[in-house]
Amino acid sequence: MFEQIERVPGDAILGLIDAFKKDSNPQKVDLGVGVYRDEQGNTPILRSVKEAEARLLKNETTKSYIGSHGDPRYGKAILSLVLGEDSPVLAANRASATQSPGGTGALRLAADFIKTQLPGKRIWVSDPTWPNHLGIFHAADVELHKYPYVDADNRLDFDGMLAALKEIPEGDVVLLHACCHNPSGFDLTQAQWKQVLEVVKARQLLPLIDFAYQGFGDGLDEDAYGVRLFAENLDELLITSSCSKNFGIYRERTGCLIAIARDSEQMENVRSQFAIVARENYSNPPAHGGSVVIEILESAELAAQWREEVAEMRNRINGLRRDFVEALKPHGLDERFAFIAEQRGMFSYTGLSGEQVDRLRDEYSIYMVRSGRANVAGLVSDNLPYVARAIADVVK
Ligand code: LMR
Repeated sequence: MFEQIERVPGDAILGLIDAFKKDSNPQKVDLGVGVYRDEQGNTPILRSVKEAEARLLKNETTKSYIGSHGDPRYGKAILSLVLGEDSPVLAANRASATQSPGGTGALRLAADFIKTQLPGKRIWVSDPTWPNHLGIFHAADVELHKYPYVDADNRLDFDGMLAALKEIPEGDVVLLHACCHNPSGFDLTQAQWKQVLEVVKARQLLPLIDFAYQGFGDGLDEDAYGVRLFAENLDELLITSSCSKNFGIYRERTGCLIAIARDSEQMENVRSQFAIVARENYSNPPAHGGSVVIEILESAELAAQWREEVAEMRNRINGLRRDFVEALKPHGLDERFAFIAEQRGMFSYTGLSGEQVDRLRDEYSIYMVRSGRANVAGLVSDNLPYVARAIADVVK
């Protein structure tokens, strides 16, 4: 039977990890997959995470299942982090968290929930969006449509976005990026979030907010602006949260699906459905990452250290954005790429074409996603001039 199976190309983002590993050029630069890197080019384990793991090793007493919703202490800690400790939604017991294998797992839970419990509802995603959004909703058999987000000049197309949202059929689901839009790096201002909220209300849309980069844009609370605005002004909302980036625990697969409902009764009903979907997909989420997060967020000392480490990562990335534009100056390209300093999060949509990205890989061993997305965190001071020179060469 297997003779009929076709080989397919690897994932557009994860496939770059292998291609980069195989490249023997000592000058190679990895601007592909979205992982944070320090000035030495490493993805370190945060000091707060190391300490939490040491405590867990000493104190952990069981490896038994944690249940389909995961560890309730994890859920409680993340709800406060995402919605804010003083959130009226939390006070009203209208929000629940279901722990999941990463943000990807949370998205799949949401997709299966939409398919089975909100039949006929379509999902609307930004164009462009994280390519795996397309894969996840396709796999769950949810009809997917796009709304514009970036225009032909590689700028945020807010007018186009708003106009398209106004045309979405009532009751459909709209996926928004809370911050650090992946792949573009263009985020909404507070005023724009308010405008989107009005359209969402008028069209009675169900927002699904993907919150994978909390803390990487302007701050842990600042990045939650849109999420909290929506949570406090809507009856119903879904949020997918990830600890992969802000705790640097990518491989531990730690995230959750948050549901906000009109009242706690309806919230419990929705939540009960998530347990079924989780059971059918993977039964229980992995525990380790969540336990690390609990250990950190429940300790005032570790939480403070972690907040500092998140700020360190954020400041480094934002500094790199400015340095990158500076490095392009000698090539007369600083104005053309000035938007890089304005974008937020790990990613920059550079505006480079697929062919230019191919040339960067083939001639300079610089790896980025073919859409022109670069992981700015993959830059270090030493390779900035090299990358700037290579870009100048391929765009001339
Ligand atoms: C990325 O977009 O590079 C990250 O979110 C990693 C992934 O799973 O694609």
